[in-house]
Amino acid sequence: MHEHFNPADANLLARRYLDSLLIEERLVDAQVPDLTLELWGETFASPVMTPAFSHLKPYAEGRESGMLEYSRAAAEANLVNWVGMMENDDYQRILSTGARTIRIIKPYADRDKVLDQLACAARGGSLAVGMDIDHIFGKDGYDVVLGEPMTRQTMDDLKNYVAATPLPFVVKGVLSVQDAVKCAEAGVKGIVVSHHHGRLPYALPPLMILPHIAKALSGSDVKIFVDCAIERGADVFKALALGANGVSLGRHMLPALQEGGVDGLKAYFAGIHQELAFIMGFTGCCTLSDPEPSMLWHHGSPLE
Ligand SMILES: Cc1cc2nc3c(=O)[nH]c(=O)nc-3n(C[C@H](O)[C@H](O)[C@H](O)COP(=O)(O)O)c2cc1C
Repeated sequence: MHEHFNPADANLLARRYLDSLLIEERLVDAQVPDLTLELWGETFASPVMTPAFSHLKPYAEGRESGMLEYSRAAAEANLVNWVGMMENDDYQRILSTGARTIRIIKPYADRDKVLDQLACAARGGSLAVGMDIDHIFGKDGYDVVLGEPMTRQTMDDLKNYVAATPLPFVVKGVLSVQDAVKCAEAGVKGIVVSHHHGRLPYALPPLMILPHIAKALSGSDVKIFVDCAIERGADVFKALALGANGVSLGRHMLPALQEGGVDGLKAYFAGIHQELAFIMGFTGCCTLSDPEPSMLWHHGSPLE
C-alpha cells in the first residue's frame, strides 16, 4: 500500500527542514552548560516551554483535564507555560496551578471579549498575554471557531491591545519579516514564529524564516518564541541557534501526558533537557546566548 503524502503539508515540511540541519562540534574549552532562561525579569529552568493548547479532553479515573495536568507539570518543572482558547473561569483554574503562564487569546470579532480576557489575564498575574493572529481565516472567509466569529487584526488593533494590558503582549503566528517588524512597531514584546500546525498549505518551516526574523529584530526588546514540529532537544538547540529565546513542544508531548500525567510529562521534559544540554556541551555552548547559526550546516554549508 502507498502511504499518502501531501506535499503541501507544512507540518511535514517543517519536520524535514529540522532534520536537514546538521550540527558541528566545538569541543576544545567546552564545559557543562547552564540551561537557565531569564524572561521578563523571571528565571526559568530552561527555554523549553509547553504549547498554547486548548480543549484537551478530561481524563477518566479522577484525573483532571490535560490542560491542567500540563500546566501543573510546567509549574513543577519551572518552565514557561502557554495556553490557548478558553473562557475566563477555565483560565483561573490554569493559574491556580501556579504555572507562570502566557495566555493566547483568539482573534475574536467581539473585541470586548478580547479586552475582557486581557483584563482577566492581568488580574490573575499572568507572565504575558497575546493573540494567535494566524487563526483569522477559515475556508469561507473569516473563521468561526466553536461558534465564535474571528476577525482580522490591523496595526491599530494590535496597538490598542498592547496599550490595554500592563503585561507583555505576544503575537502568535508570525511567519514573515514583514509581520515581525509590524509587531515590533506596534509595541509587541514577544512573537511566536509558527504556522499553527500547518494551517497554511506550503507554509514556510518556522526555522527557515527564524534567522531572518531574528536579524530584523536584533537590537529590539521583542522576544522570539518558536513552535511547530519540535520533538527533541536537538530541535530546541537548532531553534536557539537560529535566534529563538524559547521553544514550545506541542503534539509530540501528548503521549507522555496521556500515559503519565504530570509525572510522565516532567520525565519527558527532563529527556528533552538532557539532549539539549548534551548538544550544547558538544558545541561549546555554556549559556542560552551561545548557540549561533554557524553551528548548523544545511546542504553542505554552514548557516551564517
Ligand atoms: C489540540 C490543540 C489545540 C490547540 N489550541 C490552540 C489555541 O487555542 N491557540 C493557539 O494559539 N494554538 C493552539 N494550538 C496550536 C499549538 O499552539 C501549536 O502552534 C501547534 O500545535 C504547532 O505545534 P506542534 O507541531 O508542536 O503541535 C492547538 C493545537 C492543538 C493540537
